[in-house]
Amino acid sequence: MLNGLERLVGVWEGTGRGVYPTIEPFTYGERVEFSHHGKPFLLYRQTTWTDGADRQPLHTETGYFRPGPDDGVEAVIAQPTGISEILTGSWDGTTVRLSTRSVGLTPSAKEVRTVERILEVGDEELTYQLWMEAVGQPHQIHLAAHLQRLPS
Ligand code: HEM
Repeated sequence: MLNGLERLVGVWEGTGRGVYPTIEPFTYGERVEFSHHGKPFLLYRQTTWTDGADRQPLHTETGYFRPGPDDGVEAVIAQPTGISEILTGSWDGTTVRLSTRSVGLTPSAKEVRTVERILEVGDEELTYQLWMEAVGQPHQIHLAAHLQRLPS
């Protein structure tokens, strides 16, 4: 039903690092949950926080991942910053490679033109990179994170 994407199911926590030419580099904590409720898609929820003792909320997003045609993957992701992503790509059993077919922006959202997400899924580890073309800058890395599977 999920063409092996069930490997993603679980709760993952860890830390990441963010960079972009227009901002100061930062580190963050992150929790990701992929869950399956019987239909042929996964529910995706993510929250992040500042990487210090005060643990302030940072970015959060939610969406759906599902198998696409020809061993592909499709995803829909929404962000409270007024950005939505429609992504398609490939899944080889360990790596999800997604890039945007379209990005939707509310009037006050930052200008994001393309997003690329690469997730590598091990039994106990989930690592990802997020690349983007945004705010007049060429396509380049914004995030890299390393998460561990939490015991269920
Ligand atoms: C782990 C998730 C993420 C974290 C922790 C994170 C964190 C940050 C931080 C701290 C900033 C600088 C302060 C700010 O402008 O608010 C920033 C800027 C930005 N982020 Fe992210 N971000 C995340 C995901 C994303 C995603 C998924 C996108 C778009 C697809 C995105 C797009 C941007 C843009 C466009 C900026 C503004 C750059 C500028 O104005 O110069 N971020 N992010």
